[in-house]
Amino acid sequence: MRQPLVAGNWKMNGSSQSIRELLDGIVSGLESKAEVLVCPPAIYIQQAREMLSGTAVKWGLQNVSDKASGAFTGETSPLMAKDLDCKYVIIGHSERRSIFGETDKDVAAKFCALVDQGIVPILCVGETLEEREAGTTMKVVEKQIETVLQEAGSNRLGNFVIAYEPVWAIGTGLTATPEQAQEVHAAIRELLSRTDESVAQKTRILYGGSMKAANAAELMANPDVDGGLIGGASLVAEDFKAICHAAG
Ligand code: PGA
Repeated sequence: MRQPLVAGNWKMNGSSQSIRELLDGIVSGLESKAEVLVCPPAIYIQQAREMLSGTAVKWGLQNVSDKASGAFTGETSPLMAKDLDCKYVIIGHSERRSIFGETDKDVAAKFCALVDQGIVPILCVGETLEEREAGTTMKVVEKQIETVLQEAGSNRLGNFVIAYEPVWAIGTGLTATPEQAQEVHAAIRELLSRTDESVAQKTRILYGGSMKAANAAELMANPDVDGGLIGGASLVAEDFKAICHAAG
């Protein structure tokens, strides 16, 4: 059985004060069978680590460099993420792809760099509205995943997570229906099984895109939806905990 994962992507939000309050709120009274993860802005990772050590909540980054160290001004390396005990790192979020120009190859390099440090990548994939309307959703998602699978090679596929996030659903209040989500999730699992059946069965596939307390349970009730990647609703402790609770 795949243990659900509920991950909060806080994006570029918060202050040391608001993050203290949010973390306190999430930890207190959290009830979930899911693994629970928060991804604050990188500058607050040490604060999260201090507050979350010894609790059930894990912490991770929203992005990472594929380089280990050196003259890369402004970047954060996988070694630094490991040093601060990040178990997971989000890569390839649609905002990284569309605003910062990250390509499938860039994302694949980050995937490899993380796995090589023993950190679990959460690989984000998803189509734009235009791509969905043109009927190319699976073509787009397949290319995003295939590039990573090829670069990674079979020995780097032991532990990773995929987050299916339709771009049209991120931060818009529009959510994929449970049927739309299940259809793509099942197709992603089928794609993984073409590489390795055991990888397909054990890899968690999260849904992201306007998931909230009101729709989390029906989305996660689908057999191939193994949790959620939550943006806006992860910034409100009670809302985030309600989603964690809905995961089981
Ligand atoms: P949202 O963001 O929940 O605010 O739509 C999801 C994400 O960007 O990961």
